[in-house]
Amino acid sequence: MTVITSNQHAFDISDFNLWYGSSQALFHINMEIPRNKITAVIGPSGCGKSTMLKTLNRMIEMVPNVNTSGSIKYNDNDIFSKGQMVEELRTHVGMVFQKPNPFPKSIYDNVAYGPRIHGIRKKKILDEVVEKSLRDAAIWDEVKDRLNQNAYGLSGGQQQRLCIARCLAIEPDVILMDEPTSALDPISTLKVEELIKELKDKYTIVIVTHNMQQAARISDKTAFMLNGELVEFTDTDTLFSNPKDKRTEDYITGRFG
Ligand SMILES: Nc1ncnc2c1ncn2[C@@H]1O[C@H](COP(=O)(O)OP(=O)(O)O)[C@@H](O)[C@H]1O
Ligand SMILES: [Mg+2]
Repeated sequence: MTVITSNQHAFDISDFNLWYGSSQALFHINMEIPRNKITAVIGPSGCGKSTMLKTLNRMIEMVPNVNTSGSIKYNDNDIFSKGQMVEELRTHVGMVFQKPNPFPKSIYDNVAYGPRIHGIRKKKILDEVVEKSLRDAAIWDEVKDRLNQNAYGLSGGQQQRLCIARCLAIEPDVILMDEPTSALDPISTLKVEELIKELKDKYTIVIVTHNMQQAARISDKTAFMLNGELVEFTDTDTLFSNPKDKRTEDYITGRFG
């Protein structure tokens, strides 16, 4: 489902701060995440990439003692406002994790899981959703003859594309990906990268990666974070060819990381 809004940004983040207990992890983040584009978030380990990503669908609230200030709007709605239901936010904002995490169920049941939770019971409709999601995740041809086999029998790269299919089956608007290829071999990585590029026609994608080449290959915009701050956020080509901030330059030229 495409969410109709005149705002070209999926997310508007302003002066956002986040603390784990008394330790501040994000500092004054201002960022507008464009719709139907791929936004990459790069930066050294521990700089706050995953924290920022997990905040966008409020997964961060699973961690006790997290406090925030500032605002994050998704389609012009404050994601932290009292009226905003977490479940609804997460049907619009899906997530794919670092390690493929299929359920110990059949390939079919993995993809049908979300739609079933949303009350879809008719086999014909489920069949259609499963096929469409697997096709859109570029894995249908590899699994169509073994839909009832356990997902654990797939390779790592196939499992990750299955997890993307599972995410697509709930018809999200935004897909958050936290280092989705870091557990994959180079060939599977390229397949998943190709897939991500195809998905941006229909979805807004935010991908965390510690692989700068990956960010350069697939993203439209890149955010560079350091020590919980957003140092620079601009067009990917510009960030890699003509960074404004000395810290960005040092990072992309490999002076630290
Ligand atoms: N659950 C947590 N509890 C306390 N501190 C955390 C937790 N998760 C992350 N942090 C801290 O927040 C900072 C940012 O971490 P993270 O967002 O995971 O960084 P990145 O994804 O860029 O490696 C780090 O200093 C990390 O130690
Ligand atoms: Mg991380």
